[in-house]
Amino acid sequence: MGFDVEAVRKDFPILAREIHGRPLVYLDSANSSQKPQQVLDAMTDLYAQHYANVARAVHTLGSEATNAYEGARDKVAAFVNARRREEIIFTKNSSEALNLVAYAVSNSTTFPGAERFRVGPGDEIVVTEMEHHSNLVPWQLLCQRTGATFRWLPLDDEGRLVEQSIDEIITERTKIVAFVHQSNALGTINPVRRIVDRAHAVGALTVVDASQSAPHLPLDVQDLDADFVAFTGHKMYGPSGVGVLWGRYDLLSELPPFLGGGEMIETVDLTGTTYAAPPHRFEAGTPMIAEAVGLGAAVDYLSALGMANVAEHEHALVDYALPRLAAIGGLRIVGPPTAVDRGATIAFTLAGVHPHDVAQLLDEQGIAVRAGHHCARPVCVRYGIAATTRASFGIYTTFDEIDALVRGVENVKEVFTA
Ligand code: ALA
Repeated sequence: MGFDVEAVRKDFPILAREIHGRPLVYLDSANSSQKPQQVLDAMTDLYAQHYANVARAVHTLGSEATNAYEGARDKVAAFVNARRREEIIFTKNSSEALNLVAYAVSNSTTFPGAERFRVGPGDEIVVTEMEHHSNLVPWQLLCQRTGATFRWLPLDDEGRLVEQSIDEIITERTKIVAFVHQSNALGTINPVRRIVDRAHAVGALTVVDASQSAPHLPLDVQDLDADFVAFTGHKMYGPSGVGVLWGRYDLLSELPPFLGGGEMIETVDLTGTTYAAPPHRFEAGTPMIAEAVGLGAAVDYLSALGMANVAEHEHALVDYALPRLAAIGGLRIVGPPTAVDRGATIAFTLAGVHPHDVAQLLDEQGIAVRAGHHCARPVCVRYGIAATTRASFGIYTTFDEIDALVRGVENVKEVFTA
């Protein structure tokens, strides 16, 4: 079990950098992760040796590029244990994947054969109070377009969902439950099966935002039993510009298109168009070819480490970091206080110091963290704070780096109390 973190670090060229004369301590992987050489090489090799457009060209390069692109789909399908490769749709990112579902649902209003997806006045869409804006705003917009009602599962004081609200808020009126697997703002890992089972019991569809779990936990879409799962490449050591929507094939095959254009059609006539089967129905236009190939290489990289090993490593990191940070006077952890059902993302406030100042002063010590509302503003509103400072870990994070963070925060405190 386990993997050699120092060997992993050597695969990431950027980790050799210095920032302000100090070794880089990169603790912002929840925002975007760094990329191993294997991902950079896969993308360079595609452009240097095999590049052409996909699914359109009969020449050799066209077929090599198509094989590389479709090969990436196979890799992602295996990574999340999809039943079929056609359940994997490449999108620009998680936001586009989630918007795809929301817009396809409202397109069902006028789309023959898509009656099961229709929502309207009297129907309810349920999210949670901890959603990232990308899994909140698309559903608010869907409610505006359709007249459905927007509701949410509330948070308790420790950053977990209020358990009984799952049965109270998700009712026969609920048509869609969209919720995050692991919170980017709190680190909380949600009880996916509990929520999915309740949603399915009332006949609602489920959409899981796995942006923060896909890089850190074994992700098995059959085990989660959700209807749609979204995640993004750039947080899982792949490139930016590519994300994934996984959907149950029987649903995808009836779901109306979102974006129209080339390669998503079956046949086009000036009097009407019919549409390709999934996944191509949802991949209009020239896709992100090299980015998908890079994501395939990232999936290979993570699979070689083993996602159970990744989860174990990061669990140990968060277990080590939480008590050490919490011991700093004036530091308040915003999110679950223990490592139970919690990912390696730790948000905190420091009494008397604005989170942006904390991040700035940590940067001067070579430590990269994020400060702000982390695109999950309702979380800050819930806890009566404007922002937090957030340290987030990954496969290359070491215990020494956590010690550096703790020392760094203590230094920040000294500056402000001097
Ligand atoms: N990039 C966003 C974050 O930092 C999602 O959490």
